[in-house]
Amino acid sequence: MDAVVLVGGFGTRLRPLTLTRPKQMLPVVDRPMIEHVVGRLGEQGVTRAVLSLGYRPDAFEAAYPRGRCAGVELFYAVEPEPLDTAGAIGFAARTAGVHDTFAAVNGDVISDFPLADLLGAHRAQGAAATIALTPVEDPSRYGVVRCDPDGRVRAFVEKPPPGRSPSRWINAGMYVLDPSVLDLIPENRPASIERDTFPALVEKGSLRAVAHDGFWIDAGTPAAYLQAQLALSGGGWIHPQARIDQRAEVRRSVVMQGAVVGPGASVADSVLLPGARVSAGAAVERSVVGFRAEVGAGARLCDFSVVGDDARIPTAAVLSNERVPVSG
Ligand code: GDD
Ligand code: MG
Repeated sequence: MDAVVLVGGFGTRLRPLTLTRPKQMLPVVDRPMIEHVVGRLGEQGVTRAVLSLGYRPDAFEAAYPRGRCAGVELFYAVEPEPLDTAGAIGFAARTAGVHDTFAAVNGDVISDFPLADLLGAHRAQGAAATIALTPVEDPSRYGVVRCDPDGRVRAFVEKPPPGRSPSRWINAGMYVLDPSVLDLIPENRPASIERDTFPALVEKGSLRAVAHDGFWIDAGTPAAYLQAQLALSGGGWIHPQARIDQRAEVRRSVVMQGAVVGPGASVADSVLLPGARVSAGAAVERSVVGFRAEVGAGARLCDFSVVGDDARIPTAAVLSNERVPVSG
């Protein structure tokens, strides 16, 4: 089966790390996010991943020049302009010549959702589209779904205002689609699967859902990106070529290749990307330090601060929930 993998967004919520690369090329523990996503699809019988590319497509082509990723064949579909989620799926499926029932997934979702269950329900119920649902505490940053006990979707509301969600079951960003769905997607102009296509299918009674309460993370925000690293590393990981001073303390963190933690420094619930440096006496908590970035001596970073590539945090600076450099 083919799977269209959406990887063309700007990754705005992970800036500045995504100013120079797509979010799916950011490392999660020991490999880029995309390899976790495509690898899981491959394990579940997907034989070709059609990458729906827009922002910085060159990064994928450079990383996988032979057109294979995590054992799965890749097809590159580069859209001429951002087409939004439905436009992107339509463009990619048409460009790759997808004619059978196919899967489509958000390229920032790492989960153990069984694709076979989705496909099985899709075949059994004959819907045009069958979507995966996962439960969350705060549904307001997701697509929220209300369905009948038999799985027919009654309402699909993208990002409802807080407190106005029709349920706590959200669109998990994994779909099985009939090729007929492509007829609902305009060619060459933006369309949203969440705001246009799914509500249209709800109207016709031909959107179905399968719920599963398992491991599921959309790694597209700093908090979720951190959470994904800790979950996939079993609570923390230190690359053999990272250097942690004996007088430093590292807890529940992922420390990548070439990162350095100096004497008296502490790192907790954080991620140090390759080559990041935490100087003597500095403290990094619930934050991400970018490629080759440097946290100056005695500085303190906390509450989902994100330091971009090569940035320098001055000695003794205090940053809480900040982005460096500041980006729009
Ligand atoms: N090719 C292409 N073109 N890809 C895009 C575009 C586009 O114009 N816009 C977004 N994408 C890609 C992103 O790179 C990402 O992999 C995926 O589409 C979803 O976009 P996000 O920006 O991550 O959406 P979200 O997290 O706010 O919401 C989506 O995911 C939630 C679950 O994780 C929605 O599908 C929600 O309904 C859903 O609950
Ligand atoms: Mg997302």
